[in-house]
Amino acid sequence: MVERLKTESTSGPLIRNISDTALWVAVYRARETERPDALFRDPLARKLAGERGEQIARSMQFGERHAWSYVARTWLVDRIVAEQVRQGTDMVVNLAAGLDTRPYRMDLPHSLRWIEVDLPGMIDYKDQVLSGEKAACELTRVRLDLSNLNARRELFAELGRSATKVLVLSEGLIIYLTRDEVGTLARDLAAQPSFQNWVLDLVSPGLLKMLQKNLGAPLSAAGSPLKFGPEEGPEFFLPYGWKPAEVHSLLKAAARLNRLSFGMRLAALLPQSNGRQGSRPWGAMCLLTRR
Ligand SMILES: C[S@@+](CC[C@H](N)C(=O)[O-])C[C@H]1O[C@@H](n2cnc3c(N)ncnc32)[C@H](O)[C@@H]1O
Repeated sequence: MVERLKTESTSGPLIRNISDTALWVAVYRARETERPDALFRDPLARKLAGERGEQIARSMQFGERHAWSYVARTWLVDRIVAEQVRQGTDMVVNLAAGLDTRPYRMDLPHSLRWIEVDLPGMIDYKDQVLSGEKAACELTRVRLDLSNLNARRELFAELGRSATKVLVLSEGLIIYLTRDEVGTLARDLAAQPSFQNWVLDLVSPGLLKMLQKNLGAPLSAAGSPLKFGPEEGPEFFLPYGWKPAEVHSLLKAAARLNRLSFGMRLAALLPQSNGRQGSRPWGAMCLLTRR
């Protein structure tokens, strides 16, 4: 049973469980929204993140310095979703949707089906905060622990049968999984022929190490250590039925969007490949497509 989310400030550890990470990342969307030159507007993010979200964000100094990566991630995914919908996607399945509000804030067709999957406590909280809001498309929330393999396979099969072209989203999920768990998830998604595209965020082994050192302690203490940053880069997914169609470096995107400090702007000038990165810190949004 997942503890109900509380967003008012309390004593004790700031991050109590994996779902609290959703409050934290919603803060970066709220702050971007509040800028006069906002790259996207997420008017519900502040309310959803609450005071606890702001406290968590302030306590994660490394996250604060690299807030650009969350802004670039949101901006890139917005664009990928819009393009995939334009190309005929009839269902979006957002795994570990957290406090994402794209169904409310994006210009989407009424007929698009949008499925959000997350742990029961997170969905209860979101339902409660957003009860008076109206989504642009047909939105369904599913309370599911994605580590329950049988239950998730049943859900994927049911969704897979009822759509023709599905875009799967998973932002801020696979970094918390082991290699084996990511491989099994990739295979389970590929088992549905209508699941044609999958957007995910990926880090190199070098960035994983940096994140573990600088952000990892409170996450590990809350039972959600950072685990996944494969040597192979986006090609990790090839044996599981997925090939990279688009790979967008978060650093390069943030440079284009003018969200970097001077030092990071210099780093963004260095040439980058989209393949194996080794010890180099590198993070990207990847659009995978069926092989
Ligand atoms: C870092 S947040 C990301 C939320 C959202 N995708 C975003 O980018 O704002 C991680 C999310 O994963 C969800 N999550 C983690 N493990 C899960 C599991 N086993 N089943 C379902 N959801 C899970 C958490 O509840 C949380 O909402």
